[in-house]
Parts: sequence; C-alpha cells; structure tokens
Amino acid sequence: MGNNNDSATSTARRLAVVTGASAGIGEATASSLAADGWDVVLAARRPERLEEVAARIGVDAPDATTHVVQVDVTDRGSVDALAAAVHDLGGADLLVNNAGGARGLDPVLEGDVEDWRWMYEANVIGTLQVTQALFPELTRKDAPQVINVVSIAGRGAYRGGAGYNAAKFGETALTDVMRMEFAEKGVRVCQIDPGRVATDFSLNRFKGDAERAQQVYEDVLNLTAQDIAETIRWVADRPAHMDVDTIMIRPVDQA
Ligand SMILES: NC(=O)c1ccc[n+]([C@@H]2O[C@H](COP(=O)([O-])OP(=O)(O)OC[C@H]3O[C@@H](n4cnc5c(N)ncnc54)[C@H](OP(=O)(O)O)[C@@H]3O)[C@@H](O)[C@H]2O)c1
Repeated sequence: MGNNNDSATSTARRLAVVTGASAGIGEATASSLAADGWDVVLAARRPERLEEVAARIGVDAPDATTHVVQVDVTDRGSVDALAAAVHDLGGADLLVNNAGGARGLDPVLEGDVEDWRWMYEANVIGTLQVTQALFPELTRKDAPQVINVVSIAGRGAYRGGAGYNAAKFGETALTDVMRMEFAEKGVRVCQIDPGRVATDFSLNRFKGDAERAQQVYEDVLNLTAQDIAETIRWVADRPAHMDVDTIMIRPVDQA
C-alpha cells in the first residue's frame, strides 16, 4: 500500500474504494473523486498501473491521499486483504464496484464456457465478494454509498452478447437486491449503466486484438471514461436522504 501524502489523512476526510482503478472508467473515477476532495483506495490486479494512476493523482490533486491495494476481486483472500487495509484506514464512505468486463462476442452455439465463467466471476462474484467484505467498513461511516458500474448490457441483450449480457443482467439483479436489503442498514446503492465508452474494454473483450477493438469505436460517437467518472462523482456527493437508484448514459448515436 502506498501513500501520496500521509499528512492529508484525517478522520474528517471521506474515503472511497474504487475497484478496477488501474484503467478506463475506474481510473477516471478515482481521479475525479480525488479532485473533489476524496481520499481514494485504488484497487485492481496490476499494481504498477495503480502506482502510475496514484502518481498522476498526486500531481493533479495534491491534497488527496491515495492508497494502492493489489486485489483480484474473484479471489476471496485477496478481497479480505483489501478489507483489512480499509479497516486500518478507518472504514470507507464509498465503494465503487467497477472491476469487470467482457470476454468474447460469440454466438450462443459457439460460446466459450471459460469466457462465460470469467465474466460471471469478475462482474457478479467480484461485486458480491467486495461488497460483503467491505460492508462492515461502510457501516462505520455516517452516510455510506455503494455505486455499481454495470452496463446497458445488463438491461438489454444483443447478438453475440449472451455471456456478457448474462453476467451484467446478473449484476443488475444483485444490485437491485442490495438496494432493498441495505437501505434499512443505512447504505445507499446506485447503479450506473454506461453505453459505449472508449476504453481498453474492447481490447480485453477481444483478447488483445487491437484492430478489432479499434473498429468498435471508429465512425461512431463514444462516451469517455471521464463522462462516467463525472456522473459517479455527482452521485457520490448527494446528501444522505437521497437515493439515486439508476443512471443510464449513452452516446447520442446509441440512444
Ligand atoms: N467501456 C464500456 O463500453 C463499458 C460500458 C458499460 C459498462 N462497462 C463496465 O465498466 C467497468 C469498467 O470497464 P472499462 O470500460 O473501464 O474497461 P477496462 O479499461 O478494461 O478496465 C477494467 C478494469 O477492471 C479491472 N479488473 C478486471 N478484472 C479484475 C479482477 N478480477 N480484479 C480486480 N480488477 C479487475 C482492470 O484492472 P486489472 O487488469 O489491473 O485488474 C481494469 O482496471 C466494467 O465493469 C465494464 O463491464 C464498460
């Protein structure tokens, strides 16, 4: 775990945990929150990428304290270590469950079961495990929130999308039940459903095929990771009596 600026740590400051903070939407979210005065725990599998993000935040938002924690959200031991680190920091006001993604775009009859397993593990089990482990750290705070980055793929199916759709529909169901069950415990739950955002998402979906990934974002309008980050920052700053249920955001030509 690394710190940019330990002297900024104070019980009055708000702490956010962002999973998948090493790239794309998670990186932009961590940066936006830090710029808004949050201290941030940056969590993902690639610690060197997280350190680079933390270094950039240190320049752009020098008052923010960042903490880098290597975590694989599909691994319970790793997630428990994240929770222990957050415990030592005094708990978290905000958890952004963003880690996840897609593997493959195959028709159902050709679907690779390992791809389907990866998607279910990363998007559904990952969100479940991180939320379970961090819940006691959230309820230490006055007005805690969980924000799940799901997808329009969790609302409507498309050809080739079955595995990702199944995982994101699953994450939508998980998020709905979390909202019901957590409200009485004082924890608000918000779902963010982005449409097409130009990130490494497609590069990962197509397993490093850069040309195929590039085609997804060519000759169309794309959201930026920053567009989603700014929305998350707004939700994170709502007063305690407000429950922002769901926000769907698409580029205009995907509306
Ligand atoms: N881009 C889009 O069009 C779009 C649209 C709707 C929803 N989404 C969703 O938005 C979220 C972020 O995606 P993105 O577009 O920012 O894609 P991305 O650039 O590929 O980022 C994915 C992030 O998730 C992390 N991650 C993946 N598996 C993980 C694991 N097992 N444990 C911990 N971290 C893990 C990655 O970090 P490491 O590799 O370092 O672990 C990375 O930081 C995903 O849930 C995705 O499904 C994306």
